Amino acid sequence: MEKQDKYVQLLKEARSLVEGESDMIANMANLAALVHETMGFWWTGFYIVRPGKDGVEQLVLGPFQGPIACTRIGLGRGVCGTAWQRGETVIVPDVEQFPGHIACSSQSRSEIVVPVWRNGKVMAVLDIDSRHLNTFNETDAIYLEQIVGLFH
Ligand code: SME
Repeated sequence: MEKQDKYVQLLKEARSLVEGESDMIANMANLAALVHETMGFWWTGFYIVRPGKDGVEQLVLGPFQGPIACTRIGLGRGVCGTAWQRGETVIVPDVEQFPGHIACSSQSRSEIVVPVWRNGKVMAVLDIDSRHLNTFNETDAIYLEQIVGLFH
């Protein structure tokens, strides 16, 4: 099946999952599992914007599928912190070419991070890693942005 066809199906399933449930963590958990299983990615999960000990906001590990990962990421740090700071999707074809990339897993080769918006603010990011170079393109960005848009 083509990537786009998988996403069209995935988006339908994501809608029906989120429709019947209002809890953010439950929805993040099921969406991470749905995207991960359907697309066969290496790591799929959410980092949620939360205040740290000093009160400064940071990204804290949320529901995910895949190997264990870094728990806290600062604003502007790594691909996740960059997507959060810019408020836009970041596609990294080769993580070794991204200055400041945070290597949670040495197996990760390419990555996409999509901001999750609520009330005009980025409240989380969806982070996906692949074990292959150049996995993600505009098609992933378009559909993943629609999927995280379900949180609105
Ligand atoms: N590589 C990410 C960190 C999170 S892990 O990939 C799960 C980054 O550079 O922000």
